[in-house]
Amino acid sequence: MVVRVVLLGTAAGGGFPQWNCACALCAAARDGKLPSRTQECLALTGNGRDWWLLNASPDIRTQFAATPALWPGPGPRDTPLRGVLLTDAEADHVAGLTVLRGAAGLKVYAAAPVRAVLAPARGALDRYTPWEWADSLADGGFVLAGGLVVTARPVGAKTPKYVPSLGGSPDDRWVTAYRVEDLATGRVLVYAPCVAAWSPVLDELCASADCVLFDGTFFTADEMGTAVRPGAGQGAMGHLPVAGPDGSLAALARYPGTRRIYTHLNNTNPLLDPASAARSRVAETGVEVLPDGAEIVV
Ligand code: MLT
Ligand code: MN
Ligand code: ZN
Repeated sequence: MVVRVVLLGTAAGGGFPQWNCACALCAAARDGKLPSRTQECLALTGNGRDWWLLNASPDIRTQFAATPALWPGPGPRDTPLRGVLLTDAEADHVAGLTVLRGAAGLKVYAAAPVRAVLAPARGALDRYTPWEWADSLADGGFVLAGGLVVTARPVGAKTPKYVPSLGGSPDDRWVTAYRVEDLATGRVLVYAPCVAAWSPVLDELCASADCVLFDGTFFTADEMGTAVRPGAGQGAMGHLPVAGPDGSLAALARYPGTRRIYTHLNNTNPLLDPASAARSRVAETGVEVLPDGAEIVV
């Protein structure tokens, strides 16, 4: 068997076009000149029967509708969905859980701060149907139905905007990357859609990966204009830019043997336009930008 991965959505929070954005890129998407994108999450399976979500975006309902492998059946309430692995607690990665309420027997993996901040929502969701909530960072990782062994690795302390700042020292368990290994083939997928800064953990993950899905939120550090403290760049937004000496492209360029794909693209990102210079530059490095619904095999 192989690991099949469906990129259900590939846009950052707000989607593309974003409902309240009249920028040239969003206008082009509304005109049908650029492909629209739903908010980022993916589904994967190691056996073609048991499917796992990596994050659950607010667009999950339409994403399921567009993906026959995830359709229910044969029984009236049977679903191939077994659970959800959360990388963080960002609204665009967890809001889809409310859409899944009542689904029987789901198992949700998340790190401790994510489970804690979701406690009120977990209480509410568990009243529809109790789910099993597990620690993604448990020692030794965990095994998913379908022959997949997963380890989560802390990659950042970005807290969602809805979380009040209480001071104290940053907790790098807020944001994790997942390493999914197919026990049968030894092949490895790495999923890191929320990364504020490159770190040795990411080098370690990339070095052993056959395929990496990586945070492509922003192309440049000043893409959001003056909304960010001058000079702070997009690292302050919790996402490192693609371009620049400290950007992700320079880092990913060190792993030419690995399939590398950008996801979680913000509506400001020139990579959304296949004819952009940004897109050519990324392609020259061998890094891909794929549309919603793309299926990859690891
Ligand atoms: C992010 O990825 O930075 C957040 O999801 C932004 C948001 O709150 O929409
Ligand atoms: Mn996001
Ligand atoms: Zn826009």
